[in-house]
Amino acid sequence: TIPLIIDTDTAQDDAIALLFGLLDPAADLRAITIVAGNVGFEQQVANALLTVAAAGRSDERLVHRGCVRPMMREWTSAEGVHGDGIGGLVGPEDAVNGRVGEVSDEHAVDALIRLCAEAPGEVTVVAIGPLTNIATAVVKDRSFPATVKSLVIMGGSNNGRGNTTPSAEFNFYADPEAARIVFEAGFDDVLVLPWEPVTVRDGILTRTEYESITSTGAPLQAFFRAACDKTLEVCEAVGLAGSTHPDSMTVAAVLHEDLMRRTGRYRVEIETASALTLGHSVMAWPKFGLAANARVIEEVDHGRYLDLLGDLLATPGLP
Ligand code: BDR
Ligand code: CA
Repeated sequence: TIPLIIDTDTAQDDAIALLFGLLDPAADLRAITIVAGNVGFEQQVANALLTVAAAGRSDERLVHRGCVRPMMREWTSAEGVHGDGIGGLVGPEDAVNGRVGEVSDEHAVDALIRLCAEAPGEVTVVAIGPLTNIATAVVKDRSFPATVKSLVIMGGSNNGRGNTTPSAEFNFYADPEAARIVFEAGFDDVLVLPWEPVTVRDGILTRTEYESITSTGAPLQAFFRAACDKTLEVCEAVGLAGSTHPDSMTVAAVLHEDLMRRTGRYRVEIETASALTLGHSVMAWPKFGLAANARVIEEVDHGRYLDLLGDLLATPGLP
């Protein structure tokens, strides 16, 4: 199994990413660390607890509260896109497997540092929200990057197109200074799943596909519908062919490498000064001769993702 920490701003697809970490037999999920991002901070904590309960693991204190705002900027809400992030699910009665558990007393940044230091070179950290917790761990403990096996990031764009501003993707736009610190921190292995082109070109679930993987009435299928129906509506309203699932696709790619059809080595740098292009990611390919600091996923196997997600949602959750 793959030891994992998932750093998340739990709303919609983040919750499905957590289900992969909690239920996929390939995963050994050691912590869920919450970072300021999509929706109100405590709502994100509640959404993570509800997801853990849905997976039948509410007796473990997996969820850690982390940084409650970006390093240098005001919080950017994405509630217009995500609503409450969990489709109105509220408590134990909405969790597939019963009781909603409690949050750990340990701060997310301390948990990241401790868990990676306890197993140096073994833990993969998957960051599917703004990079504030990861950057704060870098700033707090100089040895943190060297203890991480692999840092896997959902964020940025590899063709100049953003989803929050014309040129910036949400996770990097929300805390550009944090993203910059992380890409300059010297992690041994950084893997990035960018918003464009892969999420939009290879990752969209059409309404037909969406309905086909939620048609047998398995409990986690209902959880998925509650969490993600709003994504489908919002994506269709802006003219996409279906719903986008960048966060769950990122965790799935860590657990099933065959999901990635192609990766390339790039120099990734983040814009932190320009008001016009704040949070823009420059992903420079080798021809420019700059030292690479990341592998970037260039193509994902759509059918394989659909199969993995379908299988995940058909599982009953843990007893
Ligand atoms: C990212 O921003 C959030 O809306 C999603 O959860 C994902 O992590 C996509 O830009
Ligand atoms: Ca996210």
